[in-house]
Amino acid sequence: MSPKWFYDALGSKLFDAICDLPEYYPTRTEMKLFADHAPEMARRAGTGRVLIELGSGNGEKVRRLMAHLRPRAYVGVDISKEVLHSATAKLKDEYPQLSVYAVCSDFSSGFRAPAELPAAARLYFYPGSSIGNFTPEQAVALLKPLARPGDALLIGVDLIKDRQTLESAYDDALGVTAAFNLNLLARMNRELRADFDLSRFRHVARFDEGLSRIEMHLESTTEQSVCLDERKFSFAAGERLHTESSYKYSVEGFAALAARAGWTLAQRWTDERRRFAELLFEA
Ligand code: TRP
Repeated sequence: MSPKWFYDALGSKLFDAICDLPEYYPTRTEMKLFADHAPEMARRAGTGRVLIELGSGNGEKVRRLMAHLRPRAYVGVDISKEVLHSATAKLKDEYPQLSVYAVCSDFSSGFRAPAELPAAARLYFYPGSSIGNFTPEQAVALLKPLARPGDALLIGVDLIKDRQTLESAYDDALGVTAAFNLNLLARMNRELRADFDLSRFRHVARFDEGLSRIEMHLESTTEQSVCLDERKFSFAAGERLHTESSYKYSVEGFAALAARAGWTLAQRWTDERRRFAELLFEA
């Protein structure tokens, strides 16, 4: 499924909770990279650019870079309207001089910039390793149209690591990630008038080393059938819906992918345990 469907109002709140979980290292690790390297990131990426954040969410990440990057304008792009508008309003409060734009859209099918945007060089900011929620082919297709000469891309990439760390990051003891995944079924019940019984599905997260991705599934715990619109879907006990993948890369592997989309690696920042990378590319 396209990752965008996870982020309705409730899903966005559950995702914020995921980011606070002890098991979910990516957000914390990336925040630490910003805390340690923001001035250098800004120096390398360039100040005075038009800063465009893809999947801007609650806006916590760009806030760490803002004072250093000093962009000419900021554009937050997100699928989740409530979250987008509260984040851009907050940013506008903090930086009254800054031109702030909010674009509520699905950038996976192409990003359309607001017409009034200054013509300055752009810096695309895509933190959180959400690029990993697309297949490598989709990721290339997404990044390729953005690669215009003079523009730059600062992107967060989750690195390949041991199975235990990866699987617990996507299957936490509190069950928040399970709730985030199951919310898809609840959302189908709410919005598509389906009748999923959530108590008869369980969250499963497995690392597929060959494909280098975490797979999220919802497994039917019993034989059952579900109605959606006029159609009936039958599940055997143990049958799974594959709802999401999260690809993990090496820095070199991701640089090779980005190269296919017209981007050249200019600088890398990683934590000392090499869990996560913030990568700067030039078109
Ligand atoms: N971009 C996040 C990631 O891949 C999204 C995410 C975190 C997610 N936990 C999840 C998606 C659980 C589906 C299910 O790390």
